[in-house]
Amino acid sequence: MINTEDIYILGIESSCDDTSCAIIKNGLLLSNVTANQSIHEQYGGVIPELAGRDHQKNIVPVVNAAIKKANANLSQISAIAVTRGPGLSGSLLVGLSFAKSLSLALQIPLIEVNHMQGHILAHFIEEADNNKQPEFPFLCLTVSGGHTQIVKITSHLQFELLAETEDDAVGEAFDKAAKILGLPYPGGPLIDKYAKLGDASKYKFPMPQLKNNNYSFSGIKTSFLYFIQEHVKENPNFISENLNDICASYQAHLIKYLLKNVLAVSKETNIKQIAIAGGVSANSVLRTELDVLGKKHQWQTYIPKFEYCTDNAAMIAITGYYKFLQKEFCGLDATPLARYDI
Ligand code: KG4
Ligand code: ZN
Repeated sequence: MINTEDIYILGIESSCDDTSCAIIKNGLLLSNVTANQSIHEQYGGVIPELAGRDHQKNIVPVVNAAIKKANANLSQISAIAVTRGPGLSGSLLVGLSFAKSLSLALQIPLIEVNHMQGHILAHFIEEADNNKQPEFPFLCLTVSGGHTQIVKITSHLQFELLAETEDDAVGEAFDKAAKILGLPYPGGPLIDKYAKLGDASKYKFPMPQLKNNNYSFSGIKTSFLYFIQEHVKENPNFISENLNDICASYQAHLIKYLLKNVLAVSKETNIKQIAIAGGVSANSVLRTELDVLGKKHQWQTYIPKFEYCTDNAAMIAITGYYKFLQKEFCGLDATPLARYDI
């Protein structure tokens, strides 16, 4: 039986290495519980088989904790929203199978969610101390471990991809550079941390120029590798003696590149509502530089709270809520989509 009075959406996210469950009531967030997987730190990246296994271990306790924290019970839930993709097939399968079982057992609709749409709609999660929400149309720079996109959003469920990366994602550019520096996975937050004490103007890296405002990070990453190798050949202690400056210079370069294309797309589309989303939107320099650029060009800028930058189920539940309002349900035959266009 569908509960039609209050709309309670239970959201599940398991696309990569975070198992998360959230409950949203009429758009308002009641709970968001995430279990992180530390096992991947030692491998320098996410190991798919280990991620799938940990999701299986974590999903029941995480869902139970989210229900308890929301002070809700299963009979109140109107629908189950779950990430269908993009992501790791084995990881997605755990969340999707669990969501299907819940929807079947409770006889309530199942809603499939595109993870990248979820990252963007994180801007619409309502809480008691709410931030301002973007107005339509707005542009979103979506930056994560697997994607780098500039998207135009014309309504809660209408997305148009305007630019993307042609090779690596910016999150990978952070994580791979961190690995070269001997830092554990995920290296993005560590580069951000060391950069705070460094000189961002000390080292220079190449700035790729692509058509259509698309991005390319593979050249920057390779030049970083050669730069480190050459210096280490001359001075074996180069990394430890200059870690803060290396991180600050490399990070500043990546952020400058990201924002350069956002500025170009904003000028072309004449849209001055600019948001950022995804794991890399937690980056302190991206957050401050977006505001600096915004002031210069009279933009309205939207920066998510830290907890909704990296993967979380609150963003899946809010997307599910808007899909519920449009009755966009899916069948129990839905399969995970490792690749899933926005
Ligand atoms: O969105 P997300 O949690 O997962 C994916 O959907 O990929 O993004 C994870 C990515 C990782 O590459 C991680 O290093 C990066 O976000 N990241 C950061 C920061 N926090 C997370 N990169 C730079 N600075 C940060 N503060
Ligand atoms: Zn993500």
